[in-house]
Amino acid sequence: MTSSRSERVPFALGAYFTGSAVNGDAWRAPEEDIDADLEFSRYRSYIATLEKGRFDAVFFYDNVLPVPDPAAVARTPSLSRWDTFTLLAALAVTSSYIGLIGTASTTFNEPYNLARRVASLDRLSGGRAGWNVVTATGGGENFNLLSHVDHALRYERAHEFVDVVKGLWNSLEPEAFIRDRESGVWLDPARVHPLNHVGKFFRVAGPLNAPPPIQRLPVLAQAGASGAGKELAARIGEVIYTAEYDIKAGQTYRADILDRAIRYGRDDRHIRILPGLAPIVGRTESEAREKFERYLSYLDKAEVLNAISSYSSLGIDLARWPETLPIELGEVSETNSHKSRQSLIVDWIRKTRPTVNDVLRTFTRGGHRILVGTPSSIVDEMEEWYYSGAADGFNIMFTSSPSGVHDFVELVAPELQRRRLTRATYESRNLRENLRIPST
Ligand SMILES: Cc1cc2nc3c(=O)[nH]c(=O)nc-3n(C[C@H](O)[C@H](O)[C@H](O)COP(=O)(O)O)c2cc1C
Repeated sequence: MTSSRSERVPFALGAYFTGSAVNGDAWRAPEEDIDADLEFSRYRSYIATLEKGRFDAVFFYDNVLPVPDPAAVARTPSLSRWDTFTLLAALAVTSSYIGLIGTASTTFNEPYNLARRVASLDRLSGGRAGWNVVTATGGGENFNLLSHVDHALRYERAHEFVDVVKGLWNSLEPEAFIRDRESGVWLDPARVHPLNHVGKFFRVAGPLNAPPPIQRLPVLAQAGASGAGKELAARIGEVIYTAEYDIKAGQTYRADILDRAIRYGRDDRHIRILPGLAPIVGRTESEAREKFERYLSYLDKAEVLNAISSYSSLGIDLARWPETLPIELGEVSETNSHKSRQSLIVDWIRKTRPTVNDVLRTFTRGGHRILVGTPSSIVDEMEEWYYSGAADGFNIMFTSSPSGVHDFVELVAPELQRRRLTRATYESRNLRENLRIPST
């Protein structure tokens, strides 16, 4: 399989948000919002700005993790956040064109409820719904379990879960609803298809009692990066999020996913791979660098190092590592949580032998690439990744809201349009059509 760009795949632009609209510590800057978890108007305004920047979709990260460490809860604005699909339902009526992709895990949900929720969002938004399929990085403690479900088992469940959801979306032909007052016939039963699914994890009769999705199949996003994760992404992922910090790693990941996809009868027409990118943009290089230094000054170093050590399961707390010495990692035991992020960070530390300050400058965005520069230097790099087959677009992670969002839309988006990477106007109000991904 070649990793070079095929002409038919258009560049895709996604935005990343959390239900508290806060990323990292830049919220401490006086110009940033600190109440988006309470005030819907904040999100309404961010999303309106993203539509001006002609983003294909906004994606909401979510998890249901217990947060056992009081020190982390005290300093990380993540505990109070909107329920993703409730927030998206509100955004569906305040926005017009942008795709609305919500995260829901296959480990702590049931396919019937989820299929219904996403179908309803699709109808409310006029065909703009997407579902980010995750197996969850943890959360068993909130769902009658003592710890997280085994990695292999949760991926096995995820495959069956998605099959059931797609089956339920297909259970209603839109033409089934005759709604004829004259004859009194509401529905043509011949166009309703019960599912009668019986599998290892689920027994689901169907059909779905929801409005038939306008896209027929709402867009499926995925972020698989372990072996099992990539297999799921290759089989069902249409928008695929990934964390790659250099172009080579991006090319390898994309080629790997496309190789695996062939076995499922899929190719690059069906898949948009979007690495995360955290741009820090200035009108000049020095303005951008000053901004980055200012954001770094807000970091609580010990807390961030402790968080990186814990989400990548390093087995040591980097907060205790001497500041001037290169980090040495001993044997690291494989995590049951986020396998790919663990190997990304462990491999990077072994290869570059960084100090803790290098880690802070590189991984404040969770392993996603931080790009500090002018609109033109940032778009140069995006273009290089796109044309060399390392990406089909990017998932933009704003350092802060609202300024990170405004900076991008005012400065970078016009440059993307000028180089014809993104659209000047939306072609459709339908996410699948805007992404130009066929429905399969
Ligand atoms: C950009 C991005 C967003 C993600 N969003 C979520 C999320 O919202 N919730 C979640 O539980 N996991 C999320 N993940 C993690 C993935 O779903 C997945 O667990 C991980 O990438 C691969 O896990 P694995 O290495 O165990 O396969 C995200 C990963 C990436 C790269």
